[in-house]
Amino acid sequence: DASDIEKGTYPHYMLKEIDEQPLVMRKIIQAYQNENNELHIDEPIVGAMKEADRIYIIAAGTSYHAGLVGKQFIEKSAGIPVEVHVASEFNYNMPLLSEKPLFIFISQSGETADSRAVLVQVKEMGHKALTITNVAGSTLSREADYTLLLHAGPEIAVASTKAYTAQLAVLAILAHVTGQSCGTVQDFDLIQELGIVATAMEALCDTKEEFEEIAREYLSTTRNCFFIGRSLDFYVGLEGSLKLKEISYIQAEGFAGGELKHGTIALIEEGTPVVALATQEAVNLSIRGNVKEVVARGANPCIISMKGLEDEEDRFVIPEVNPMLTPLISVIPLQLISYYAALHRDCDVDKPRNLAKSVTVE
Ligand code: G6P
Repeated sequence: DASDIEKGTYPHYMLKEIDEQPLVMRKIIQAYQNENNELHIDEPIVGAMKEADRIYIIAAGTSYHAGLVGKQFIEKSAGIPVEVHVASEFNYNMPLLSEKPLFIFISQSGETADSRAVLVQVKEMGHKALTITNVAGSTLSREADYTLLLHAGPEIAVASTKAYTAQLAVLAILAHVTGQSCGTVQDFDLIQELGIVATAMEALCDTKEEFEEIAREYLSTTRNCFFIGRSLDFYVGLEGSLKLKEISYIQAEGFAGGELKHGTIALIEEGTPVVALATQEAVNLSIRGNVKEVVARGANPCIISMKGLEDEEDRFVIPEVNPMLTPLISVIPLQLISYYAALHRDCDVDKPRNLAKSVTVE
């Protein structure tokens, strides 16, 4: 049928969509360039960013995880404070808003009811909203003041992959262009850095057997799995654990390396898989310290580090990219490990139980 043709030779949409990520990166670089080959975002959007005294990112699921990284991009590049909120909580746990807030809705589908409810509410209050979405003409796009598109192509698998990395790239570009306009970003060639990311993504997609092996070794029979990281790696760990839960039904939890000792370490037993991300130089020693703590309690560690920071104990080393952009590539091993874990456990990869691609009820 038609869906088979779209999948091409791939057994699952998820695998196809993981593989499309380098191409999507290049499409985004293209789509956000002007005729002088400079990154460009429409002036009204940059203007709204600069006018804001605080940005509120609203999203759900994987898009929420992209928002956590996006906060770092915007704060570091443009110097505007950012809060990130889970859409379903926002309307009743609304924070005290700043004088001039700007709302950014991140939503692959542009149809998530929880996010829409917040958009309706903040529009009623007279605030401005930008939607970052993969679907032109979607509800969240139509009802917001501004839209930025992801250019990721249709994402069919329920578990989001290429939309996440596309969201990160578009957020990086938004932060960068705003920062340039504010004068807070100089001498940073984001086009080149994203090109390096695309090449690194390709290299990872070409080493799938490694991740199939890791999935077999660590996740074939386990009941649970933990993801730890610090700084940006923490947020990628949250996304990695969500991927694993969604499609393999393994109970997974992502948490900050330093938070381990405050409770979660009680769950570590003989053989418990702990995936640790180590892509950030400033926290490399401390995350490795956390690995020692879990190993001392019997954990089976799987350290994924970045070239330049690697150690012989590491299970996989990802290619080096700009330290700010590591989430765009460190997530790919986690996507692939989840994919193969689901396969090994005979799960329905593209259509996991109890989940919908877009949830249009609150
Ligand atoms: C659903 C999907 C998730 C997705 C979330 C937000 O729960 O199963 O994969 O991350 O909705 O979707 P959105 O389209 O708003 O990004």
